[in-house]
Amino acid sequence: MKRIVILTGAGMSAESGISTFRDSNGLWKNHRIEEVASPEAWARNPEMVLEFYNQRRKQLFEVEPNAGHHALVRLEEKYDVQIVTQNVDDLHERAGSSKVLHLHGELKKVRSTVDPGLVYELDHWELKLGDKCEKGSQLRPHIVWFGEAVPMIETAAELMKKAGIFMVVGTSMVVYPAAGLIHYVEREIPKLYVDPKAFAVHGVSNLEVIRQKAGEALPVLVGRLLDEV
Ligand code: OAD
Repeated sequence: MKRIVILTGAGMSAESGISTFRDSNGLWKNHRIEEVASPEAWARNPEMVLEFYNQRRKQLFEVEPNAGHHALVRLEEKYDVQIVTQNVDDLHERAGSSKVLHLHGELKKVRSTVDPGLVYELDHWELKLGDKCEKGSQLRPHIVWFGEAVPMIETAAELMKKAGIFMVVGTSMVVYPAAGLIHYVEREIPKLYVDPKAFAVHGVSNLEVIRQKAGEALPVLVGRLLDEV
């Protein structure tokens, strides 16, 4: 089976009703990054940080995967599909995709502040000050904050090298190191980029740009890819 590697960003979940980060009215327009998504913010005002992610988590319990997520699941009928997502939602999993790597963490998981190996699944939306891990330390969101290392980046880079077809969906490609992953994909491999505001990616060959929404473009594109096999 040919392997398709798909890098997704916030635009993938936009049609499910989750705000992107940088579009007008995006999440970072309403919140300063330093205030909510950094170790400094956590040290200064953990309550505010918890509240920001609690609201995101609460919303996640209210939204559903969209036509784009569902289309990517259909690809598994004929391809070995590996999704690498910058999203912290679980909409790929809920749609039914079987291999999903989360680069920036997962909203429904929390972890210990003394032992990063202690990760727990939350079955409700609210994480509070005073909620502790089994070693007695405060739990924090299982999210990669600005200024923190991205533990899964090397695994993701290795996956890029093995792609037989590469797809990028709904990302502004401005946040590194994720934005650099496309450069690990071999030159001759076909690359597809779905984003209504896709910009020119320099130094990348064999790139087809589809300036449409994920929920509209992906069902058609997936149909095409399934017909090719
Ligand atoms: P951005 O908000 O930067 O970019 C979202 C992209 O989605 C834009 O290029 C939009 O044009 C596109 N878009 C909007 N609606 C779409 C739709 N219906 N279909 C397809 N594309 C659509 O989000 P990311 O690139 O994901 O990191 O941001 C990367 C990282 O920055 C995030 O993972 C997050 C943030 O800071 C962390 O929280 C660590």
